Amino acid sequence: MPETSPKPLVVAVVGATGAVGRTMIQVLTEKRFPYTELRLLASARSAGTTMTVAGRDITVELATPEAFEGIDIAIFSAGGGTSRELAPEAARRGCVVVDNSSAWRMDPDVPLVVSQVNPDDLAWHEGIIANPNCSTMQLMPPLMALRDEVGLERIVVDTYQAVAGTGQKAIVELEAQVKAHAEGRVKVASVYPHVIGFNALPHIDVFLDNGYTKEEWKVVTESRKILHLPELRVSCTAVRVPVFVSHSEAVHVETRDPITAERARELFAATPGVVVQDDPANNLYPLAMDAAGSDLVFVGRVRQDPSIPDDRGLAFWVVSDNLRKGAASNAVEIAEVLVERGWIRKGSERGVATASGGSPA
Ligand code: A2P
Repeated sequence: MPETSPKPLVVAVVGATGAVGRTMIQVLTEKRFPYTELRLLASARSAGTTMTVAGRDITVELATPEAFEGIDIAIFSAGGGTSRELAPEAARRGCVVVDNSSAWRMDPDVPLVVSQVNPDDLAWHEGIIANPNCSTMQLMPPLMALRDEVGLERIVVDTYQAVAGTGQKAIVELEAQVKAHAEGRVKVASVYPHVIGFNALPHIDVFLDNGYTKEEWKVVTESRKILHLPELRVSCTAVRVPVFVSHSEAVHVETRDPITAERARELFAATPGVVVQDDPANNLYPLAMDAAGSDLVFVGRVRQDPSIPDDRGLAFWVVSDNLRKGAASNAVEIAEVLVERGWIRKGSERGVATASGGSPA
């Protein structure tokens, strides 16, 4: 029997003044999230300032352990260090944390959830829930559809990622470089190791010993956890491109059983939150500029990959707004599921066993 959600419902956004935090506030407002009180937390830099939400002024508070007393759900986007320090403090005080950083994603006792892919994993949370990395997020709904119909053997994904993922400073830098180019001035790089304007950088986050970047390896490990396929073979090349908002991905999938492009399109179209845009003859395919501002995942250019035998290969193009579905919207959707299913309290307090190493399913 689902329990009724506690009333009143106090929700906090931690990192409220940041690019993703502001989008979280916007999404909470757009969705008319049923909070009775919204609290905004950030660092000492902005504590005491005021933000206007739905016509009401809210004073930004300093994020301290004590600040989480009385908060039911806290959505964090304030960097990994803040999450590592404050998420356990919040959970100890009875608050459930939906964390957008990478700090907790691969902890076996922390569910890593895409709202329409593995919402049942939320049942066993122990106070912290992780929101996946943006490049993993948009890949999951179409891959779930293929997993459920024909099984997945191997994924190769190459990303074309927008600068908004790096934060406001990267947006400003790209704008400055475009202006400098138009005016014949030298383009200056400070956020990235090279100029991003009119360029493509095969370098997102730090390089690991295996030659992949951390961003690429997140796609590998997070996909396996979300899809409940710990042995799934995945390879990724992540590229930063001079696009302001929305990540695009070229995806190549080897399936276990044969599938046609037509059937794949049907499966994608039937997946919640996915829209198929696939009419190349009329120049219709997903575009970053069109996806910006939407919570949907757009899929197109679906075709059979003839380099894989027996009709077990597909290639397609996936685009989504990295600030919305890739971060803020999915975090808010997770909070919605927690409220709807009465899962705000820890799984152990509701009699649900936490399975170390993954889902109890
Ligand atoms: P502040 O604006 O007060 O520094 P972005 O990724 O766009 O730079 O945003 C980061 C967000 O995380 C901001 O809201 C920032 O608040 C917040 N933040 C950074 N460090 C901390 C911290 N130690 N405690 C709480 N919030 C933090």
